[in-house]
Amino acid sequence: MSAAEYLSKGRDYIDSAICNYMPEETVYPVSIHKSMIYSILAGGKRLRPILVIAATEAVGGNREDILPFAVAVEYIHTYTLIHDDLPALDNDDLRRGKPTNHKVFGEAIAILAGDALLTQAFYLMTHSGLMNAVPPERLLQAAHDMTVAIGTSGMIGGQVVDIESEGKLVDAKTLEYIHVHKTGCLIKACIRAGAILSQAKTEELEALSNYGEQIGLAFQIVDDILDITADESLLGKDVGSDVDKGKATYPALYGLDEARKKAEKLVEEGIAYLEIFKNRAEPLREIGRFFLQRTF
Ligand code: IPE
Ligand code: IPE
Ligand code: MG
Ligand code: MG
Ligand code: MG
Repeated sequence: MSAAEYLSKGRDYIDSAICNYMPEETVYPVSIHKSMIYSILAGGKRLRPILVIAATEAVGGNREDILPFAVAVEYIHTYTLIHDDLPALDNDDLRRGKPTNHKVFGEAIAILAGDALLTQAFYLMTHSGLMNAVPPERLLQAAHDMTVAIGTSGMIGGQVVDIESEGKLVDAKTLEYIHVHKTGCLIKACIRAGAILSQAKTEELEALSNYGEQIGLAFQIVDDILDITADESLLGKDVGSDVDKGKATYPALYGLDEARKKAEKLVEEGIAYLEIFKNRAEPLREIGRFFLQRTF
């Protein structure tokens, strides 16, 4: 199966379940549920849930057994996007090809929709009744791992330094900190979650963590590149917004060519960690390559 095929089938699989684990939009209070569903259904590549699945399958697990957990990571990701776009953060108007959540529902509901998606994600990740095939201690381990990845030692930490670095010249170490934390940590945690839930051996979890670390940073470097080079209608978000805000980015510090080379090297190194999985990690290798080739 080609990367494009694996990703589009994976996206359909996630999309068919994405609304099954949260209140319908007719449930009172209607505004919050409408707002959550608006951003969840606005589109998105669903790469993080697909990574949970691909990691599970690399260690011999079944996607059906961990589907609620995979859906939960998309709730977390969507929460980070809603909050990232707020006027107090990146102040963006376009996301997934549609007006950003706060543009449609107002800032108060957008903040609360993010909070609610995050909360719903932990409701789901710890719901052992929905994931009978997974030992409860594995659910606990993966959910705990996720808290570390998205808290102040992970995603939030990266977002803080990203915001505090606007308009400043940052050094290479600070730039790497921002990108590893704001984006890399969640990507790595999704890969680790798939492995943990499907009872990966210690050396398998370590290999997947290393792979996740490399491709997670590469993903954000490519995001920076696309902010300069992409077609806005394809990308679905405002192009050029990093330069406008004086964001610390890889192209700003290294130039486009060097930034691209760094992303390529990271993916190559990441894929090298997958050797022990033989053919079962082929989707993960393809996803790594897709990270470099993507145009949106
Ligand atoms: C965008 O992530 C935010 C970053 C962490 C760079 P994606 O490019 O995965 O966004 P969607 O989910 O496809 O909209
Ligand atoms: C986003 O980084 C990271 C998180 C949402 C945590 P960006 O600010 O570069 O993402 P986009 O470009 O708005 O999607
Ligand atoms: Mg941002
Ligand atoms: Mg942003
Ligand atoms: Mg960006």
